[in-house]
Amino acid sequence: MNKDVKINWGNLGFNYIKTDYRYISVWKDGQWDEGRLTEDNMLNISEASTALHYGQQCFEGLKAYRRKDGKIQLFRVDRNAHRMNESTAKLLMPEVPVDKFIDACMQVVKANEHYVPPYGTGATLYLRPFIIGVGDNIGVKPAPEYIFSVFAVPVGPYFKDGLTPCNFMIADYDRAAPYGTGGQKVGGNYAASLHPHRIAVDRGFADCIYLDPSTHKKIEEVGAANFFGITKNNEFITPKSPSILPSITKYSLMDIARDYLKMPVYERDVYIDNIDEFKEAGACGTAAVITPIGGIEYKDKLHVFHSETEVGPVTKELYRILCGIQFGDIEGPEGWTYLV
Ligand SMILES: Cc1ncc(COP(=O)(O)O)c(C=O)c1O
Repeated sequence: MNKDVKINWGNLGFNYIKTDYRYISVWKDGQWDEGRLTEDNMLNISEASTALHYGQQCFEGLKAYRRKDGKIQLFRVDRNAHRMNESTAKLLMPEVPVDKFIDACMQVVKANEHYVPPYGTGATLYLRPFIIGVGDNIGVKPAPEYIFSVFAVPVGPYFKDGLTPCNFMIADYDRAAPYGTGGQKVGGNYAASLHPHRIAVDRGFADCIYLDPSTHKKIEEVGAANFFGITKNNEFITPKSPSILPSITKYSLMDIARDYLKMPVYERDVYIDNIDEFKEAGACGTAAVITPIGGIEYKDKLHVFHSETEVGPVTKELYRILCGIQFGDIEGPEGWTYLV
């Protein structure tokens, strides 16, 4: 690690910090090159790159966790590799072989090992793999060349004081179209979310909740996270729709709810008008892990679930087991963790 860098592990947020190495590989003439680590965090690309003009790019997000025994592990990195290839397929970009993706993540973690926060701080090393269309091009068509890169940033736990519920408002806008790219992790979805996010924050909410873009009756996403609810009958429910990003955290929680907590689990429509079917609700994703939803504002009324200040017992238990698996304290299902 650069000797000048002194990190206060207990005080990390979700901000860019330049770490020592990142991985970079170039696709040209129909193939990926070998790929390499570099200390240079600047990209030198054509002004006519499709990523800059036509949004031909996609990305992923996952974390490396320091275990109690000092070893480091990744969580379900294979799922990120597959999801990235669903994004590349949709935007006519070249696929990154799953082994290449995993190897790139491993190399970046090893090369920046000293940036993986100590066990017990709740902090992690966030990995950001991405692919951008580059090269000289002016028409709306796929790029002639691509860059695949992975960089790493140490990030703090989302909640410094434990699981604190947040309030959300229903957005007046859509983040994606019914048959568009909502199910893929592509930059355009996030550009479309900036304005509704700003409105929600200005009104004192943590973020907004998007309804389905066809009928505006069903809950889809909570900002950049998936929604789940616990019914009064103790079922785990999460919405199903092609315009929702398939959250790896969400699918992991479904397995945890079913196999560890023995709850019935359903992926199905969640109607905003029927929101009082839930006694607890949460948002889940790699960055947020689980954010308990205190209340949702819809048509000028705030619907409160368990409490605006206290996390509900099922959400708390889901969080304990998920984090336990991610940090290596609880044995997870086979194949969920990858030792670096
Ligand atoms: C729009 C959106 N939904 C959901 C998620 C959660 O997905 P994951 O659990 O794979 O991080 C993310 C974050 O990646 C996201 O950007």
